[in-house]
Amino acid sequence: MKQRSFVMLKPDAVKRRLAGEVLTRFEKRGLKIIATKMMIIDSDLAKKHYGEHSEKPFFKDLVNYIISGPVLATVIEGEECISLIRKMVGATNPQEADLGTIRGDYAIDTGRNIIHASDSPASAAREISLFFEDSEICEYTLPDEELIY
Ligand code: PPS
Repeated sequence: MKQRSFVMLKPDAVKRRLAGEVLTRFEKRGLKIIATKMMIIDSDLAKKHYGEHSEKPFFKDLVNYIISGPVLATVIEGEECISLIRKMVGATNPQEADLGTIRGDYAIDTGRNIIHASDSPASAAREISLFFEDSEICEYTLPDEELIY
């Protein structure tokens, strides 16, 4: 089943100039980038995005981190891509992330784990609509899709 996931390169990824390299991994896997936006998230949007964690002890640090610089917000599309992307991203704590995953290859600390990816279809729908207007999402077919599927 074709799915869409919300994937965000966090401020540390942008500051460390890793955004392009990470997006390339998704493209090389065969996934399709259908929206991107470089933006500085304000505190209201950060609190909405991470609302389910508002009672957690790390909430304030998480919000401060995510508003600390530009992020690259993206929508990525592909077959069953939500769980696939989570596997590619690796464990939340990069110390526990397998080598070969994005966090396992590029990060060390949970508070600077470089990337967010939706964890379910419901989260993906909520997050995509929080960050993107329908008109900002580009539907298209790539010539090599029949080679991938
Ligand atoms: S929980 O408690 O299991 O529901 O939380 P978890 O899913 O592991 O993490 C939720 C998001 O919070 C981020 N996180 C943190 N940020 C900063 N500091 C600390 N200590 C911390 N712990 C968790 C974590 O990366 C998740 O954000 P995203 O953007 O989804 O990765």
